[in-house]
Amino acid sequence: MGIEKWGWKEDPFTLKIEPNLFTGYDEQVSAINRHIENKHKIALVTGNTGSGKTTLLKWLEMNNPNIAKLYISKPPLKPEEFVQIFTDIFGLSFFDRLFGKTPTLWTLPTYINKKLKGTHLLFLIDEAHETSRDVLEWLRVLVDQIDSVSLIIAGLPSLESNIKSSLETFEQRITTRVALTALSESETKDLLRKRIEAVGGSGTTPFTDAAIAAIYQRTGGFPREVLKLADKLVHDAIEKGQNVIDAQNLADYREFEPAPVLEEPVVAFAPKPPSELQVANLPRKQRQLLEILAKTDWLTPTALAEQISGSYASKGHAIRSINNILHRLMLEGYVQRESKGKAFMYALTPKVRTLFVKA
Ligand SMILES: Nc1ncnc2c1ncn2[C@@H]1O[C@H](COP(=O)(O)OP(=O)(O)OP(=O)(O)O)[C@@H](O)[C@H]1O
Ligand SMILES: [Mg+2]
Repeated sequence: MGIEKWGWKEDPFTLKIEPNLFTGYDEQVSAINRHIENKHKIALVTGNTGSGKTTLLKWLEMNNPNIAKLYISKPPLKPEEFVQIFTDIFGLSFFDRLFGKTPTLWTLPTYINKKLKGTHLLFLIDEAHETSRDVLEWLRVLVDQIDSVSLIIAGLPSLESNIKSSLETFEQRITTRVALTALSESETKDLLRKRIEAVGGSGTTPFTDAAIAAIYQRTGGFPREVLKLADKLVHDAIEKGQNVIDAQNLADYREFEPAPVLEEPVVAFAPKPPSELQVANLPRKQRQLLEILAKTDWLTPTALAEQISGSYASKGHAIRSINNILHRLMLEGYVQRESKGKAFMYALTPKVRTLFVKA
């Protein structure tokens, strides 16, 4: 017998986004609701992967029936794409088309205000940590100029530190900050119950209260981990022909450690790839280094120092200077690096490589 022995029509613990089954995070939800009711402009939602950011945004989209809404699962890569995003939902009139009056990035706020006719817009942007500084800067400009809008942007915790360190204009306009951390024990129980009832089951059957306490302990109430662990318990119980899942069932699971600490890559906003013109106008030493790297990938500063003509006082000077130049080239998007033992090795970024192949 499979899941039907508990009266379930389908597997309740899949990782599907189910905004209607949103549970808990009461304080965070009411902070965001207040933000929208008061028509405040920018709110920031951060949380590790699996904490419930997407579910929260979808829930907000569902539960604000009387205002205009726009949910974007990932911000565009270039600010110009905002034009398409808005004309896609608001449309262009026959005459707009006839006279080629598609809005540009510069006329977009006027176009949006005209289409909204005073209605409040709830603008939800997910995965905002993946975007560039440029796009966020344009979002800020848009939000400043749309008459009535609440922008809720969500992303990994790095989004907040990136904004803080490099986008003061944006940072200063954030009026609500919400961090999704984890559910409490009773919210974890609620999450399980809602999922089970949604597929036709009753209460938290087959989980005993002790099993739920153990699930909470193992996962720290982290939603995606709760679902994964519950799913595994259910499938193991089916395999063993058990009708009840008790704390004992978790005893052998090593992989679900309490309160997962999720590593997040520390990446700053990706630098804009340099153009052909910029490459051509680089100072001689920088260009020389790029030319060497165009011929050979992944060199250490020492190896580069050996190849560069000797205008340095000593080899030590050369390596230090080359290190500094490489670091700058990396921040500007010309080169990338990887650590090999104690040293770093450098190579051209893919975009710059294509410029050199053409040249
Ligand atoms: N508060 C919640 N109530 C019920 N289910 C939740 C809640 N938060 C998350 N979940 C469930 O946990 C899973 C992960 O949530 P979600 O995809 O929203 O996380 P996320 O923060 O957007 O993750 P990522 O950063 O990887 O996109 C989903 O299956 C979702 O349905
Ligand atoms: Mg998500």
